[in-house]
Amino acid sequence: MLVHHWIMLCLSCTLCGADFDSETEVGKFLRHLEVIPDIIETGPQEFLNVTYLGSIEADRAVELQPMQVRDEPYVAWNAPMTNYYTLLMIDPDAPSAQQPSAREFLHWMVLNIPGNQLIMGDVRVGYVGAIPASGSGMHRYVFLLYRQRDYCKFNFPKLPKHILTGRSNFKSMEFAKRYKLGYPVAGNVFTAGWSTDVPALYDSISQGAHQKETHKNLET
Ligand SMILES: *[C@@H]1O[C@H](CO)[C@@H](O)[C@H](O)[C@H]1NC(C)=O
Repeated sequence: MLVHHWIMLCLSCTLCGADFDSETEVGKFLRHLEVIPDIIETGPQEFLNVTYLGSIEADRAVELQPMQVRDEPYVAWNAPMTNYYTLLMIDPDAPSAQQPSAREFLHWMVLNIPGNQLIMGDVRVGYVGAIPASGSGMHRYVFLLYRQRDYCKFNFPKLPKHILTGRSNFKSMEFAKRYKLGYPVAGNVFTAGWSTDVPALYDSISQGAHQKETHKNLET
């Protein structure tokens, strides 16, 4: 009986070992960051090129300042124009890594991107940079790129840049399953924590919402 258990244990070790060995560099890295299994099951094949302000690379969990990531990054990947892609940016550590009750918070969602022409995609959820709460520790900001099977009608509400509601408790894995996106083909991560700029960044987002309201009132 004991021998039997021992053999079973060995077998499962070997299987796990083989699994880790066959994993890509990106996969290993995301497992190290616990993005696997917190958000996805299987690692992508490639690191996604994400660049802020022309030269700041959001790569391999580098720590960036909320001010540096205020505006959309430039995102690059190799893709034939014959495929459509979905890009997600999420924070699994919302409101904090210790108590991630809002996991995952959606920062950006662009759908039906033809090839690598991000600008031609459908921005379903407008970009919001890192605005971690004071005392909430470091957050992981994760970019995931999925190759769609085809052009797809996604049933997800359009959330403008300045709207923060409706972004919490998103589940990348469920979304990918629902729209048959498979595993992400590329991904990357940066990290950020609170800084003295965050209150102003937060205000500028909510001011955007107020301006929109005022505008609406003037129109009616
Ligand atoms: C991504 O970045 C690497 C390193 O800077 C570069 O060699 C590669 O060409 C880039 N890929 C794309 C698709 O821009």
